[in-house]
Amino acid sequence: MDAYEIAVIPGDGIGPEVVDAALPIVADAAENAGFSFETTRFDWGTERYLDRDEMMPDDGLDRLSGFDSIFLGAVGHPEVPDHVTLHGLLLPIRKGFDQYVCKRPNVLFEGIESPLRGYGAGDVDFVVYRENTEGEYASVGGREHRGFDHETAVQSALFTRRGTERIVRAAFEAAAEREGRLTSITKSNAQAHSMVFWDDVVEDVAAEFPSVEVERLLVDAAAMDLIRRPHEFDVLVASNLFGDILTDVGAQITGSMGLAPSGNVHPGESYPSMFEPVHGSAPDIVGEGVANPLATVLSWSMLFEELGEIGAADALWNAVTDQLADEDAPRTPDIGGTAGTGAVVADLRSRL
Ligand code: NAI
Ligand code: MG
Repeated sequence: MDAYEIAVIPGDGIGPEVVDAALPIVADAAENAGFSFETTRFDWGTERYLDRDEMMPDDGLDRLSGFDSIFLGAVGHPEVPDHVTLHGLLLPIRKGFDQYVCKRPNVLFEGIESPLRGYGAGDVDFVVYRENTEGEYASVGGREHRGFDHETAVQSALFTRRGTERIVRAAFEAAAEREGRLTSITKSNAQAHSMVFWDDVVEDVAAEFPSVEVERLLVDAAAMDLIRRPHEFDVLVASNLFGDILTDVGAQITGSMGLAPSGNVHPGESYPSMFEPVHGSAPDIVGEGVANPLATVLSWSMLFEELGEIGAADALWNAVTDQLADEDAPRTPDIGGTAGTGAVVADLRSRL
């Protein structure tokens, strides 16, 4: 019997609420599928930062490196600037473990009302492959002449052939296994260096996947088309910044931030991958017990899938699908109900 070691970083705000609520059903799913896992909890985040000026210890990555996988709740605190929380914890893990594929499925489930008129169950079903280690989020730049009126800020984007090729190839592989359609997001009209380079790489890699139909879309047009014709998308591949923005659009058109899962995947064997709900720490609802735990449960489903535990992955995903389709099932306020986090998980467990 396999026993996996999983690091759990609940983080801030509603992070611990959804992470703790989901753990029992996740354990059920593993037990039913005949494997077990142990979790080790790391209380890293802004409480620690406010206390001792660091989001995680200096040797944080070393401590995580031996785990089979990592689960993260959310980070972010109203009293701490967001670049501190992001650069102190999330980005170092994504970059340090070379988690270059940020995989974000967007599915409109039965029983969920999309803000888009006329869209029903299954009409939206696409996945975004976002580059997760370089691009616009590379820490290259600086600020000079602070406080003067000639103060200057430079922030460079970094696109390498290796980095671009591997995310594009991962997206093509996904498209070949899905509906065979890939949309590459760029801004090649304005960013004639990095994005034309991206287009060239897409063209090169496309030659390896003759069965995949390729579409190119400028990011502004993509923002519009995700609202105008989301049913036409299958796999989207985008740079770090563009993927970040478009996945928030994706989360909204499929009902709620509370339903959107994600994985930061290192496809090789060298490092653990990290799974997390797309949403943040939601300070506006923290402590009320109404945070939607479903994005967290779906993210665990993705974690199990990555470990090759397809039975447990499917069981969790199907339990969520089943619950959302049931009009009488408890649901949290963000998706039109009045139930709390605990009641949703309790109902979910009965559906496994
Ligand atoms: P957010 O995702 O925390 O909240 C946006 C809206 O969605 C809020 O109205 C919130 O109540 C709602 N929401 C989010 N998750 C929900 C859930 N599970 N159930 C029900 N409603 C939910 O984004 P926001 O407000 O922009 O950021 C808050 C903090 O979170 C900031 O400090 C930000 O930096 C951080 N953040 C962290 C992320 C991460 O850890 N990966 C991602 C996004 C934001
Ligand atoms: Mg985001």
